[in-house]
Amino acid sequence: MTLFLRKAVKSDLQVILENEQAAYPIPWTPTMLSDSFAEQYQFFVVCLNQPQEVIGHMILQPILDECHLLNICIRPSAQGRGFGKQVLQKWFELAEQQQWTTLWLEVRESNQVAQSLYSSMGFEHIATRKDYYSAGEGKREAGWLMSKLMHSS
Ligand SMILES: CC(C)(COP(=O)(O)OP(=O)(O)OC[C@H]1O[C@@H](n2cnc3c(N)ncnc32)[C@H](O)[C@@H]1OP(=O)(O)O)[C@@H](O)C(=O)NCCC(=O)NCCS
Repeated sequence: MTLFLRKAVKSDLQVILENEQAAYPIPWTPTMLSDSFAEQYQFFVVCLNQPQEVIGHMILQPILDECHLLNICIRPSAQGRGFGKQVLQKWFELAEQQQWTTLWLEVRESNQVAQSLYSSMGFEHIATRKDYYSAGEGKREAGWLMSKLMHSS
């Protein structure tokens, strides 16, 4: 079973939305996802070749020689099988190709699964942003800012 990324297209939106809503307690809205087709983002779907299916997505925002991970999602039925790790590895390959020297992401303080995945892939916790995320019902939650330096050429 091979995992690959391809550029998302508008006709993927329905499955992206289903995966997003299944994976996140507070998912992005349809508008936030469709706005991610704008030129300043790189919007990918995560696919498996056998059977051909879209199991998740990744949204990147490159800025000069840096790149920000805005969203990474693997649908719950496919989690815990190493796919999240492979998607991050694909991000690192893109970083080599596109010469991004620093990678950035934010993660909820409560999302320990994602935090330990990022740490195991070389990200460092740089700062904590108080009240960064909505936590529903008018509550807020802190976000960890994490970054990874890539080898510059
Ligand atoms: C975070 C996410 C992308 C990881 O994808 P994944 O395919 O499950 O990750 P992997 O299978 O590559 O697992 C990575 C590590 O997390 C661990 N892990 C995965 N799911 C886990 C779970 N439910 N409970 C505990 N550990 C878990 C794995 O054991 C693995 O650690 P290991 O290498 O030490 O064994 C996925 O869980 C997800 O989409 N979550 C919901 C959305 C989200 O939180 N995105 C991140 C926002 S910052």
